[in-house]
Parts: sequence; C-alpha cells; structure tokens
Amino acid sequence: MAELVKLEGVTVAFGGVKAIDNVNLTIEDNVGIVGIIGPNGAGKSTCLSVIAGARKPKTGSVEVLGHKITKADTAKITRLGVARTFQIPRPFTEMTVRENIMVAVTANHRLSNAEADARTDEILERLGIANQAELLTGALPLAVRKKIEVARGIATQPKLLLLDEVFEGLSDTEIQDMVQILRDLDKSGIRLVLVEHVLRALRQLASTLVVFEKGQMIATGPVDEVLNSDRVKDAYLGHRSTP
Ligand SMILES: Nc1ncnc2c1ncn2[C@@H]1O[C@H](COP(=O)(O)OP(=O)(O)O)[C@@H](O)[C@H]1O
Ligand SMILES: [Mg+2]
Repeated sequence: MAELVKLEGVTVAFGGVKAIDNVNLTIEDNVGIVGIIGPNGAGKSTCLSVIAGARKPKTGSVEVLGHKITKADTAKITRLGVARTFQIPRPFTEMTVRENIMVAVTANHRLSNAEADARTDEILERLGIANQAELLTGALPLAVRKKIEVARGIATQPKLLLLDEVFEGLSDTEIQDMVQILRDLDKSGIRLVLVEHVLRALRQLASTLVVFEKGQMIATGPVDEVLNSDRVKDAYLGHRSTP
C-alpha cells in the first residue's frame, strides 16, 4: 500500500456552507500516528467522516488503505479495515459495557458465541475496563464512555482507526491512561488518525500533523515543523505563540 489516505479535490457542503473545500490530502503509510488539528469549525470532523466513508463528498475522490472508496457503502469500508470513533460517545445507554462492545464485535462478523465472547473479553482487557463490564453505560464517567468508544472502534479489527477528540474533557491522569492505550494500539499495527485539540497528548503520540483552517488543509508534515510554522501559529491561535 502506497498511501494510507488520499483525498483529491474533496468538497463537502452543508447547504451553502463548504465544510471542506477542494481538499487535497495525502497521508503516506508508515508515517506513525497522525494528528489532525485546527480551530473549531475548520472541517476536521468532516474530513474524518469522509475518510471513514460515512460522508460522501460532493466532488473529488477518496482512497483509503489503497482502495478507492468514494462511492463505497459503509459495510464494505468496514470490511476493508476502516473504523472511527465519535467526539460525543454514543454507547447504547440501556446496555452494559460488555453488551455495547459485543454489539460492535458481532456487527460485521459471523462469529460463534464463544468467539464473540473471547474477542469481547480481549477488548475489555485491552482498554482496562474489564472491571466495569457488567455496568450500564448510561451513568458511567466520561473517561469510561470514551474508552467504550475506542473499544467499539477496534471491535471490527480495523487496520485504520479514526478517533475524534478522544481526549476531550479528560483529566491529566485520564489523558495519560488513554495515551498508553493508543500507544499499545499503534504497536499492535493499527494505523491511528486523531482529530485532536489536546496538543500535550498529540505531542506524545503523533509523528505527523495535518492542519485545517476554514475548510482548507493549510499544512502537513512532521509535528515540530508544522507547529513551528508561522502559518499554523497564525491560524491556530490567531497570534504567533507556540500552540
Ligand atoms: N451535519 C452538518 N450540518 C450542517 N453543517 C455542518 C454539519 N457538520 C458540519 N457542519 C459545518 O461544517 C463546518 C465544519 O464542521 P466540522 O467538520 O464539524 O469542524 P471541526 O470538526 O473542525 O470543528 C462548520 O461550519 C460546521 O458548522
Ligand atoms: Mg469536530
């Protein structure tokens, strides 16, 4: 596979508003963990949805993991090995943690009950939430609900996992916990692309950054290079101090 992600001339519009406008973005494979940053409303989540194949562009083409997915349906894209998490966790609140993960494990795979059980247990362990497995998700703290999001993301055994603001609202300890989880996923060979505001987490994880501003991709490259560019400092904070 040459490229992890290749967007060419991608535009997504909501009514008259172009959420992303004629974006050309290539992410090579094996560039480490990728962070997508930028101000609110810049188009980051929309870009993630396009890569996940959930949002179809008005114009342009989308390739992920070496496959053209511009018009592919989401079930096919899941089978190709792409999964995503959402900024606002969306667990089924009337189900337990375990059931939430089980639903995702069995959604796209024909598994025996024993296989589904084993895979669910393994994911609970990996995320460090085996102790909470039998609790209903509705009343759980945000940090656990964020972990359930990630658990559901890896339930389909993706090659590429797209994460939308997985650190948002977490305490410093919870951030470090999640950093370690993502490091382990990275080590296991899952490619990670994170939309993220929490730069102190990204600095620990990401090798490559992509910067969006007002629907445009304005910079991409190694983390330090991107964060030190004047263009990015201007866009990100409106003034030239390090973001
Ligand atoms: N479902 C939607 N309906 C209408 N407008 C949307 C929708 N999703 C995003 N937008 C608009 O598109 C722009 C980019 O949004 P988004 O991709 O969510 O930005 P970010 O994730 O960088 O904050 C914003 O102006 C936002 O209001
Ligand atoms: Mg967003």
